[in-house]
Amino acid sequence: MMKGSHVLDRLLVLEMVRVTEAAAVAASNLVGRGDERAADHAAVEAMRNALNELDLDGTIVIGEGERDEAPMLYIGEKVGARRDDPNAPRIDIALDPLEGTTITAKAGANALAVLAIAEEGGLLNAPDVYMEKLAIGPGYPEGTIDLSRSASENIRSIAKAKGVDPSEIIVCVLDRPRHAALIAELRGLGCGINLIPDGDVAGVIAVTDPDTTIDVYMGQGGAPEGVLAAAALRCVGGQFQGRLVFRNDDERARAAKWGVTDLNRIYSLEELAQGDVIFAATGVTDGTLLEGVKRRKNAITTESVVMRASTGTVRWVRGEHRREPGGQD
Ligand code: FBP
Repeated sequence: MMKGSHVLDRLLVLEMVRVTEAAAVAASNLVGRGDERAADHAAVEAMRNALNELDLDGTIVIGEGERDEAPMLYIGEKVGARRDDPNAPRIDIALDPLEGTTITAKAGANALAVLAIAEEGGLLNAPDVYMEKLAIGPGYPEGTIDLSRSASENIRSIAKAKGVDPSEIIVCVLDRPRHAALIAELRGLGCGINLIPDGDVAGVIAVTDPDTTIDVYMGQGGAPEGVLAAAALRCVGGQFQGRLVFRNDDERARAAKWGVTDLNRIYSLEELAQGDVIFAATGVTDGTLLEGVKRRKNAITTESVVMRASTGTVRWVRGEHRREPGGQD
């Protein structure tokens, strides 16, 4: 029997793909053009237009920034064709129209258009600070990872559960100077380290796919991206823990504004994304999760994934969008 709430209508599952496809196709015009802002802007505008066609009353809870810093898709912005209808389903939305702006500008791997929705109150309203992240894929006993332990302890625990030596564990880490000590610790254990230049939503999701050979994701990335990755793991399984990182008084003030009182709290997967959740992503450039947008002579092809927590269904969607020869998309 199909499970799932009535608020997140089943029809929305496929509608969500149209939204991420629109953002990815728009951003793909700017792949390799060296202009991060233009790529982001194109994705934002396309995603917003597509969201406003959906039959819902949506509120952005993870978006492009606070109202005074983001003209579109800012936190608190209402979207959806029924945003003024008091009887419409009320949905919270987390989005990143272009996850990997630098990747896109440089035509690197793993840029995505990403969207997650939940019932009102289902997604952590995370401030735009860093989050310490620790993630493994499905199939491990509960409690295999614990963010309050050291990286070495977590690697040993994962290796024990997997039945291998710690030196066989492959860890995905963002290539940043702030991770020098973490990387040295992992090198000390002999782990393989998959250093990514950007794009930790794809990095976290990679732990759920055995083909990537990545066992665990570790390190600090954006907190909004952490909520998006958590939404995906709620659907496909796996373990994730996150702790917000506040580097100065300004960021601590943001915490207060967001109602975060315990600055050291470790958030579980369910605390980041609870209840029924739908996650969708479309590849902008080729990556571990999805193929990027391909502009062919008469068509543009896209690859997307959409998944739902309540049913655990994962759908891979290949889109072929007709393109008039020589014309605009
Ligand atoms: P953008 O698409 O906003 O550029 O984010 C890319 C990203 O690499 C995220 O995947 C990651 O969470 C974050 O930036 C890391 O931030 P920083 O570049 O400051 O280390």
